[in-house]
Amino acid sequence: MTVITNIEDLKRIYRRRAPKMFYDYCESGSWSEQTFRENVTDFEKIRLRQRVAVDMTGRSTATQMVGQDVAMPVALAPVGLLGMQHADGEILAARAAEAFGVPFTLSTMSICSIEDVAERTQKPFWFQLYTMTDEDYVRRLLQRAKDAKCSALVITLDLQIIGQRHKDLKNGLSAPPKPTLKNWLDLSLRWRWGLNMLQTPRRHFGNIVGHAQGVDDPSSLFEWTAKQFDPALDWKKVAKLIEMWDGPTILKGILDEEDARMAAEVGADAIVVSNHGGRQLDGALSAIRMLPRIVDAVGDRIEIHMDGGIRSGQDVLKAVALGAKGTYVGRAFVYGLGAMGQQGVESALEVIRKELDTSMALCGRRRIEDLGRDVLLVPEDFEGRWQDV
Ligand code: GLV
Repeated sequence: MTVITNIEDLKRIYRRRAPKMFYDYCESGSWSEQTFRENVTDFEKIRLRQRVAVDMTGRSTATQMVGQDVAMPVALAPVGLLGMQHADGEILAARAAEAFGVPFTLSTMSICSIEDVAERTQKPFWFQLYTMTDEDYVRRLLQRAKDAKCSALVITLDLQIIGQRHKDLKNGLSAPPKPTLKNWLDLSLRWRWGLNMLQTPRRHFGNIVGHAQGVDDPSSLFEWTAKQFDPALDWKKVAKLIEMWDGPTILKGILDEEDARMAAEVGADAIVVSNHGGRQLDGALSAIRMLPRIVDAVGDRIEIHMDGGIRSGQDVLKAVALGAKGTYVGRAFVYGLGAMGQQGVESALEVIRKELDTSMALCGRRRIEDLGRDVLLVPEDFEGRWQDV
């Protein structure tokens, strides 16, 4: 039995077990991947202040996100195609999150449908919405999420048009994979993945196939996004969606102070400072670098979350200390899922929890609420000196 000491251990196993096409889908940023890389490397620039002789008994990582109790300030981010990383991936990840006491966010572009996940879990999960031109379809989708008792809506704002990830084009990414010689050769090395996949009927975009019309190739993420996603999405439409949902709403993909102000005005409960894991606008600043400015701009008006680059509990600590009330992991839990299903996601969460707890202790803090900028050493030029526009 392999000993899992950190997220990298899970990534190594994941890389061996998942089809190359899906590993590459997860492990890509757009174009040059500068933003994808800097999401991680910018975390490394921030250091921690070691404190000693502080009573560290009775520590807790528990807190709240949008008023809901969480075992630590970490939610599972919405990630498309989880059911291709591992058979029934969305159900397994949701179960792991439930066992752990953190939110699971189901992507619109999931393989298992909203109803599949609701039927096979006990606690409510969150639902992530991509807005589509077919308003009737969006209305029905929101109703399905309500019927499934989803306890928060995450509206993604930074993917009206999809960023180009070179590897996906070269691999001919599709769900399920097309029966080409290249794919057969790759799948022959991933027998465990194939065996699990043979035992599930869930191999298509479950929220879409059979529910939406107007796309010729229902296995292509790129065709869906190009034909269905709403390029005309604006703040008026966002306000309408918030009103329609009539429950906790989180706006994801905010990376600019002016947009953060708009989000606070439009009546959302929280924002996610995010550049979509570096998968959209390559050249944008990392999420952790933008976080302090956004906290300064709207932190007193709206709850702030962040994602992008979190691979450890120390990263969570840094984001929280810079003002995030919650964080999201995407790739970090996908590595666990692709490596060993539900157990792998639980393992990823446990690694992060332990790192967070130990780092808090060594920084002399016992509660999440006690984490502030004073536990960090942030380089003077961390946010960068950019000319005013
Ligand atoms: C969204 O679905 C993505 O691929 O980033």
